[in-house]
Amino acid sequence: MIPIHHYKVNKQKPMANKSSNSNLTNAKNAKNDEFYTQYHDIEKEITAYLEYNPEVFRGKTILLPCDDPEWSNFTKFFAQNFERLGLKKLISTSYAVESKKYKSYYQPSLFEVNDPQFDEYKTKKNGKIFILTGDKSGDGKVDVNDLEWHYLKGDGDFNSNEIKKLRDEADIIITNPPFSMFRDFLAWIIKADKQFVIIGNMNAITYKEVFPLIKGDKMWLGNGFHAGNAYFSTTLAKEYAAGVYDPETGLVKFRNVCWFTNLDHGRRHQPLPLMTMDDNLKYSKHKELKGKESYDQYDNYNAIEVPFTDAIPSDYEGAMGVPISFLDKYSPEQFEIIGYEKSYHLRTKIYPNQIQIDKNGKRSNVTKLNDGAAIKVFTQPDDMTYYLVDDEYFVQSYKRIFIKHRKKTT
Ligand SMILES: C[S@@+](CC[C@H](N)C(=O)[O-])C[C@H]1O[C@@H](n2cnc3c(N)ncnc32)[C@H](O)[C@@H]1O
Repeated sequence: MIPIHHYKVNKQKPMANKSSNSNLTNAKNAKNDEFYTQYHDIEKEITAYLEYNPEVFRGKTILLPCDDPEWSNFTKFFAQNFERLGLKKLISTSYAVESKKYKSYYQPSLFEVNDPQFDEYKTKKNGKIFILTGDKSGDGKVDVNDLEWHYLKGDGDFNSNEIKKLRDEADIIITNPPFSMFRDFLAWIIKADKQFVIIGNMNAITYKEVFPLIKGDKMWLGNGFHAGNAYFSTTLAKEYAAGVYDPETGLVKFRNVCWFTNLDHGRRHQPLPLMTMDDNLKYSKHKELKGKESYDQYDNYNAIEVPFTDAIPSDYEGAMGVPISFLDKYSPEQFEIIGYEKSYHLRTKIYPNQIQIDKNGKRSNVTKLNDGAAIKVFTQPDDMTYYLVDDEYFVQSYKRIFIKHRKKTT
């Protein structure tokens, strides 16, 4: 038995342009990739695809790379549900202990040590592969006890030829890849034109390699974590500030986490219920909008600023700048994604000279206002960074995606 265990803007108050996800950014800086996904998060996500298409995994080979099969809930979930999902083959691979960026105390599992294949050198230097194709134990059912394993020739690096071959063999690639290598990992999948379900940070949407996939409906957000908050288990508890790591559960909490996929699911086809522009301005629950005369128009993009996804007006036909988190509610039948800040063809203006003035009044010459959507403000903001261009004041919105209603609305 394998010891798999149980992981605005309004004129007064515009927004800053910083990512709110400092936890994950810190993790990225430290190149810490050791976060392990919880069983129920995997189960909840996979259930969404199954509900949409009960046959989605039937006859398929699933590869779980960047895993630690002895401990992984991915391996455990797919092994335990092998028959129910109708899988053809499950392959799970791990990355060698000594190749991991983050060094910590390592002790091989009893399962490995007690196996005749055990090799003191390879246990640290090599990755491992676990394969499941059917009932090997002869107990009449397929589960974790039927996984067969051996050491990989190499360290299990997803970019190695050894793992690329497995990728090419697989139909669907599912994992929580190393956060620090998200772009490379996604490119690795896309290159082989595979189906996938992977965990990542929502801010990845603004990467120049990632956004075209979203815009082209080649990748979308999965069913998701509750409110984008994901809890992972980690062996590196001491790395985290209080509030991020909970010693009682042994879990770290990251914000803005989502699943990226090209498998369809039901939520993706549910239209977002919306109010008209007039109703939003009269009745919005957001103080930033309620009582305003109109939605702000960007100064440098031909679009209006919509600071909240639920404040998208149902009857506006032009382009709208919406928060990145809109993608969690995106239905391709309802909206068309037309660009984001780096879609420079949508930009109508470039500011050659600008002075940035921060909250403390510190002035600097920058070109940053050209990096995003700018909103002209008529009074000098006193509690946030703003920009001075030819005696006019501007603030920059948070990162935005530009969308349009797909169909004419009533
Ligand atoms: C975020 S963890 C997720 C582990 C597991 N998939 C899970 O969700 O429970 C990513 C894992 O990928 C491993 N890793 C880092 N670089 C890698 C590489 N180049 N190739 C394969 N795995 C790698 C890390 O050591 C880490 O264990």
